[in-house]
Amino acid sequence: MDYRYLGKTGLRVSELCLGTMTLGRETNEEDSFDILDRFVEEGGNFIDTANVYSLGTSEEIVGKWLQDKRRDDFVVATKVRFPMGEGPNDVGTSRKHILSSVKDSLRRLGTDYIDLYQVHAWDQRTPLEETLSTLNDLVREGLVRYIGASNFKGWQLQKAIDMSRQKGWESFVCLQPQYNLLSRATEWELIDVCLNEGLGVIPWSPLRGGWLSGKYTKDMVKPPEGSRISVAAEKGWSETWEKHNNDFTWEILDTLYAVAEEAGKTPAQAAINWVLHRPGVTAPIIGARTMEQLEANLGSAGWSLTDEQVERLNKASKLYVSYPYNEDAIRQRRKFRE
Ligand SMILES: NC(=O)c1ccc[n+]([C@@H]2O[C@H](COP(=O)([O-])OP(=O)(O)OC[C@H]3O[C@@H](n4cnc5c(N)ncnc54)[C@H](OP(=O)(O)O)[C@@H]3O)[C@@H](O)[C@H]2O)c1
Repeated sequence: MDYRYLGKTGLRVSELCLGTMTLGRETNEEDSFDILDRFVEEGGNFIDTANVYSLGTSEEIVGKWLQDKRRDDFVVATKVRFPMGEGPNDVGTSRKHILSSVKDSLRRLGTDYIDLYQVHAWDQRTPLEETLSTLNDLVREGLVRYIGASNFKGWQLQKAIDMSRQKGWESFVCLQPQYNLLSRATEWELIDVCLNEGLGVIPWSPLRGGWLSGKYTKDMVKPPEGSRISVAAEKGWSETWEKHNNDFTWEILDTLYAVAEEAGKTPAQAAINWVLHRPGVTAPIIGARTMEQLEANLGSAGWSLTDEQVERLNKASKLYVSYPYNEDAIRQRRKFRE
């Protein structure tokens, strides 16, 4: 596996990051350890979790697994923002919640530092100064090495970067957005911010929760029993059958299946490879419920789709874009300059 610098930092991370959201949820502890071992055997050093994943269980599994390892060999990322209890201060990015959450995450992870501490989503109720100054303190105290953002809008990310710069605080070094063939709105503004400001990009759900894995076909009347998509609606997850069972999705999947076959890869490998090579992307965060899925997904790195195959996927997955993000508007601006 290759290593890439995370944004402008000197930190080198494997080009695939292992997501651990399924650990302790669909995947038991023993299988989780095997998945983590296999990822590391392939050269992976970058592991993403969050305090909220199974209310701390994912962090605990990663922490237990880390105990007989050399801690410094790994880049461990976790997050704060979503509710961890019923109390009024068990949620958000207030100073109080961040400081108690970081202590809990360190304890569950069995470590004295977190490599990458991410704000899981924007918190409209907490002043940004409060959040960013607290994160700055965590880096200064040595509890956290780098900070990142997830699920921000373009203006929110730019505002946070500008504020940290003006105040001389540690700044976000990367963004964790949803980004895959079924979800490309991240390209409208967020990727530009990251490229302009030198932030790394670590896309979540590169298979859109399994939609791009190859197991869904348009002749199906419902998702296969036991798949994530079959339970997404009842669990309140966004990758539901109802949302994606439409012509837009099936056209992308048709193209993906054709491109993958031509490339001699599985659809999952082709889909992850596509996002791995998008401008600005550092490392997609791969998900796997089983060892077989991990094995398959590890095969998404170390090769490239041809330019023509990428172009076909780009064309099939292009979203309708209106002003000011569309190409016409850009052409117009160029005309004025000439
Ligand atoms: N920041 C955020 O808000 C956020 C949100 C979501 C995720 N994340 C991060 O991103 C990571 C990855 O997200 P994700 O789990 O949604 O990724 P994903 O790769 O889009 O989906 C993973 C799911 O797809 C199916 N799958 C994966 N590989 C497969 C294969 N080769 N063949 C068939 N099915 C396959 C499995 O579901 P089945 O049960 O159907 O087999 C698996 O659980 C998470 O672990 C987490 O670290 C972050």
